[in-house]
Amino acid sequence: MEGHFIHILFFIAFILLLSHCTALDTLPANQAFKDGNTLVSEGEMFELGFFSPGKSKNRYLGIWYKKISYGTVVWVANRETPVTDRIGMLKLSKHGELVILGGHRKNLVWSSNSAVSVWSNNSAVGQLLDNGNLVIWNKNEKSTNLNLIWQSFDYPGDTILPGMKLGKDLVTGLQWFMTSWKSHDDPSIGVYSNVHDTNGYPQTFSLQGDVLLARLGPWNGLGFSGFPIEKENRIYTTKFVMNKKEIYHTYELKGVVVQRIVITWDGKTLFLHWIERIKDWIVYANAGVDSCNRFSLCGPYGMCSINKQPPCSCMPGFEPRNPEEWNASDWVSGCKRKKPLNCENKKGERDGFWKIERVKVPDTRRSWYNVSMTLGECEMACKSNCSCTGYTSIDIRNGGSGCLMWLDELLDTREYDVNQDIYIRMAATELDGLVNPQFDLSKKKRTLTAVLLTSSAVTLLFAVAYACRKIKKQSHMKKQGKWNVHDEKDHLDDLQFFSLHEVARATTNFSVSNRIGEGGFGPVYKGLLDDGKEIAVKRLSETSQQGLDEFKNEVIYETRSWMLNWPQRFKIIHGIARGILYLHQDSRLQIIHRDIKAGNILLDGDMNPKISDFGLARKFVGQDTIAKTKKVVGTYGYISPEYAVHGRFSIKSDVFSFGVLVLEITSGKKNREFSHGDHNDNLLGHAWRLYKQGRSIELMSGSLHASCVISEVLRSIQVALLCVQHHAEDRPTMLSVVLMLVSEGALPEPKQPAFFSEESYHQLSSLPSVDECTITVLYAR
Ligand SMILES: *[C@@H]1O[C@H](CO)[C@@H](O)[C@H](O)[C@H]1NC(C)=O
Ligand SMILES: *[C@@H]1O[C@H](CO)[C@@H](O)[C@H](O)[C@H]1NC(C)=O
Ligand SMILES: *[C@@H]1O[C@H](CO)[C@@H](O)[C@H](O)[C@H]1NC(C)=O
Ligand SMILES: *[C@@H]1O[C@H](CO)[C@@H](O)[C@H](O)[C@H]1NC(C)=O
Repeated sequence: MEGHFIHILFFIAFILLLSHCTALDTLPANQAFKDGNTLVSEGEMFELGFFSPGKSKNRYLGIWYKKISYGTVVWVANRETPVTDRIGMLKLSKHGELVILGGHRKNLVWSSNSAVSVWSNNSAVGQLLDNGNLVIWNKNEKSTNLNLIWQSFDYPGDTILPGMKLGKDLVTGLQWFMTSWKSHDDPSIGVYSNVHDTNGYPQTFSLQGDVLLARLGPWNGLGFSGFPIEKENRIYTTKFVMNKKEIYHTYELKGVVVQRIVITWDGKTLFLHWIERIKDWIVYANAGVDSCNRFSLCGPYGMCSINKQPPCSCMPGFEPRNPEEWNASDWVSGCKRKKPLNCENKKGERDGFWKIERVKVPDTRRSWYNVSMTLGECEMACKSNCSCTGYTSIDIRNGGSGCLMWLDELLDTREYDVNQDIYIRMAATELDGLVNPQFDLSKKKRTLTAVLLTSSAVTLLFAVAYACRKIKKQSHMKKQGKWNVHDEKDHLDDLQFFSLHEVARATTNFSVSNRIGEGGFGPVYKGLLDDGKEIAVKRLSETSQQGLDEFKNEVIYETRSWMLNWPQRFKIIHGIARGILYLHQDSRLQIIHRDIKAGNILLDGDMNPKISDFGLARKFVGQDTIAKTKKVVGTYGYISPEYAVHGRFSIKSDVFSFGVLVLEITSGKKNREFSHGDHNDNLLGHAWRLYKQGRSIELMSGSLHASCVISEVLRSIQVALLCVQHHAEDRPTMLSVVLMLVSEGALPEPKQPAFFSEESYHQLSSLPSVDECTITVLYAR
């Protein structure tokens, strides 16, 4: 009994000893804090002390992470004035001024210039908070009142931590902005900065010296115009505040993920997340990676689009100011009006407005705003002021509110996938031309032909496979080659067949001059039928293996997949989704593939995925999209429960297989070959487990951690889990899948997947995996 007591005593003493040894988070006034001493925040998240960055021997007072990422510096006091020896010290005066003294003579190296007059019964005290903020309080000895004198969060360096502000204090005039370090070893102020601009409606600029590199659009109620809006972002929330006292934006973390935003010494603005599992920072978002990010790339009245080549075009009603330069990809001089405005001319035609949808709004430096006006009032205001070139709502929520008017040329506008529109001013006569474009039927038809001729390999492959099935049934398979024709005739229920002779004549005997491309596994020819119809013909050669190997490139799995980085994989996922959507919906015949799997995805040299092997495909016309088959064919691991058990297949069976495929691409592991030490679940089950625990990111293949964009990985996994849900009706359509993959909106919560363990397959009795149609022989593996 007594021994026990002694133990406890000892234990208490030990704890006291421990806590005594733990560094303090407060710095009392008039106490020397020497190089080598540190302050540690209460939760041990951050530490303050002197340090030398990189290879430098200079000493700086800084704040860095302690518990995680030890030594990653987030703030430096004396950026421009290092201490050159190791006898520097920090001191806090009673009046709240923080100073760094260097050398034997204790020269003043740096000061916070924050001295205030204090009562004799008051004193300043410094404290390092657990959010990384070093604060100086004015503390009364007798009461617990604390008044803030100074805080390091008011003087950001290259890092913005949650809770820090970017913007301007309108009372004191203090600006909160980020500046890069000069180099890895030198924290002095470098050339790059991110600054909040409060001329006109507030927006944020990335600068290199005085040169404007990029612009983060103004706050639109949901996010920054032109920056992905993540409403249901689980990691952080962004806030914009504008009142009489201050204008700023800031962010707060929601969960346990540690995030920092840093402007690197070479000018990149990165959102970094700490991933404990790999003990490293991962780029969650890189503000400004695409070409349209460059400020005003397309000049005044130009529109930038990353989906177009070249990216620049003129706004409707405008034409290149300098066509030669424009043609030579020099877009800086931008566009000019085709027809002048009539604003001053009261008798003449009036001006009107043309709506451009889904944009990042133009530069707002020369703008005027009123947050309480309606869009209608805004139009009136713009119309009655001849300097006004365009207008929009300030807040896009709830149908839009507020008025933002541009009083200058429209600069730095880009297409953006968010519901934000602008109304640009133009002459009424010009507007008429735009509203009622002359409908040229012949032109439209030509375009259609062209689209068909250059349409994706999916169409052609389908045509090939489908035709081959027919041909085979009719035992007409020719030994010398397989070929088929896809024409543009409006036969919804069937494809037309042509004799080899007809096709040969149409393509001038498959002449080289008629060759328009190389598809999935054979050359494609342009042809002209006797009745004048243009056709595309794909020729498959059984004997020649040429081209086959280069396309048949199953590099999805881990063994070889180290060469595929995340952007490539995401592009592949997206491409496959688009391909299946095409089969399900966009092609004139609805096609259910029935055997979507990694082995049937071909990658071309540019890593564009092509869906192949239509041996099992079924076509449907109209609404008849659910069918039953007695013989279940398909591939273990990818097959949906309703198909495996009841032989019922629908477009949702393809969705299921797609979901499996996405998990495989993301994890680099095969569903059926997956094993885990802790449980017997297959990849689906494993993904589900991690998802439920909020650890989805751990599913990601280790080889991706340098290249991944966490938000995209998590989104892909969640979409995949939605696709593999047990009930077909719970699964999204491919259209939703495509939209979910590219949008930033919230995703539904998935339910438990089907077939999450290997046993679930064994319960199936009838699943022979037999190829129904030997057309797949072309891909014999
Ligand atoms: C602090 O001192 C001032 C004047 O010296 C006095 O007016 C004030 O009441 C004191 N405050 C407290 C809390 O003792
Ligand atoms: C620019 O290119 C277009 C299309 O290629 C052409 O029609 C036009 O004549 C060119 N203009 C100049 C000035 O080179
Ligand atoms: C903004 O618009 C509202 C409504 O039209 C008006 O009452 C208010 O005075 C305007 N404010 C400014 C600053 O112009
Ligand atoms: C247009 O509106 C702006 C902002 O209110 C104002 O400064 C300017 O004087 C106006 N111009 C004309 C011609 O009314």
